[in-house]
Amino acid sequence: MNNVSDHRVLLTRDIPMSDFPSLETIFIDMYVAKNGYKAATKALQEMKPGDIIEEVKKSGLRGRGGGGFPTGKKWEMVAGAAGEEKHVCCNAAEGEQETFKDRCLIRSNPHQLIEGIIIASYAVGAHVSYLYVNENYREEITLLEKALKEAQGKGYIGKKILGTDFSLDIHIQKCPDQYVAGEETAMIEVIEGRAAKPWQKPPYYPANRGIYGNPTLVNNTGTLSNIPHIVLKGGDWFSQVGSRQNPGTMLFTLTGDINRPGIYELPLGTTLSKLISNCGNGLKDGRRFKAAFLPGNSPLTESHLEIRLDFESLKEAGSGLGCAAVTVLGDGTCAVATTLKFSRFFMNESCGQCPPCQMGTANMAILLQKIEDGHGKIEDLAAIENICSLSKGQGYCQLLSGAVFVVEGAIRHFRKEFEAHIHEKRCPLQSSSGNTL
Ligand SMILES: Cc1cc2nc3c(=O)[nH]c(=O)nc-3n(C[C@H](O)[C@H](O)[C@H](O)COP(=O)(O)O)c2cc1C
Repeated sequence: MNNVSDHRVLLTRDIPMSDFPSLETIFIDMYVAKNGYKAATKALQEMKPGDIIEEVKKSGLRGRGGGGFPTGKKWEMVAGAAGEEKHVCCNAAEGEQETFKDRCLIRSNPHQLIEGIIIASYAVGAHVSYLYVNENYREEITLLEKALKEAQGKGYIGKKILGTDFSLDIHIQKCPDQYVAGEETAMIEVIEGRAAKPWQKPPYYPANRGIYGNPTLVNNTGTLSNIPHIVLKGGDWFSQVGSRQNPGTMLFTLTGDINRPGIYELPLGTTLSKLISNCGNGLKDGRRFKAAFLPGNSPLTESHLEIRLDFESLKEAGSGLGCAAVTVLGDGTCAVATTLKFSRFFMNESCGQCPPCQMGTANMAILLQKIEDGHGKIEDLAAIENICSLSKGQGYCQLLSGAVFVVEGAIRHFRKEFEAHIHEKRCPLQSSSGNTL
């Protein structure tokens, strides 16, 4: 984990890696010593649920799970939905490529997240809430189990919390290690004991009909980890960092041909060039920047180096922030091979229930493989583009559209490189010995 920002919110109260506790260490005292659970105490003892929702709305916080939906608005919908019982579900499925920000947040501070869930549950009226965690995050699950026990021991979870009438149980639900299992309705299926297959939306959304038919607030780990800070310091304080429409910080997962890959907490709206040079310490071996691939979104190129990495700016540029995973390609790294890698991921992760998704992701990957292997024809490129235009918006969830955005964007930006693979029947970036230049 790399903390290079002066604006850290989420990682300010983390425990330095040097004295990272073993699984046996007690965390809660460290957390409480750094003002931990003060926000939950304030929320439950001094604030009405509506006041908390107003503060979250004022902060302008947007979901960190990929869509950037306004968090306060979602809380208001769940709080106002008809139903005796409600639930909060923290999404730590994190099955997306090249992403490990949620894992980092859980490792560095499980109590910050639990505190966020407690406040969210109180605000929307939930008494049974869930932590939905990627099953491969075994150590993190152990940390969370331990932290939940500690919180229960100190009276932050359980019956009549902190002497109030509010009671809450939080359960851990292991999430299958499949990308699609992170989609919010697939998550509900898993919690109810079925396979991870998304629903068609509309008519039902988790906010009005979620776990066991009850209104359910689904928020990402990063979203909920911001909540204690907003409650303690106020929405205005939170929105001082970032831009008006994109307040706060974001955890960027920086990978690829970079000197210092890692997780960086930076204000939303930080430029791509700053992320690469200040945080990533530039490209490996002095290579020139070629592209940044963002899972489920159109890649960025050299002309985007000064683009602000936030929801609005990237949307305007025909891309998207998603969960802020940035895979950097230097010159010499093949755009076709990278596109194929992303495309194969979507093919493998399609759950198979929607024929357009199953066939669209598979056909794109097969044709890209053909081009990468040097057997492609120019008509294959047109066929891929045709699949893209027919597939966009199809399927029950966004998986197919995400696959299309990556492939379509890569062809738009690197058409010459795709064509060169077809004409030269090999990767033009490889020397005759087969080594990448
Ligand atoms: C295929 C697919 C996979 C997803 N995976 C995740 C995930 O791993 N974690 C996550 O928080 N959201 C994921 N989402 C988005 C969730 O459906 C949901 O919008 C999000 O958890 C809401 O939280 P937020 O409002 O705090 O961003 C995924 C969506 C799709 C379509």
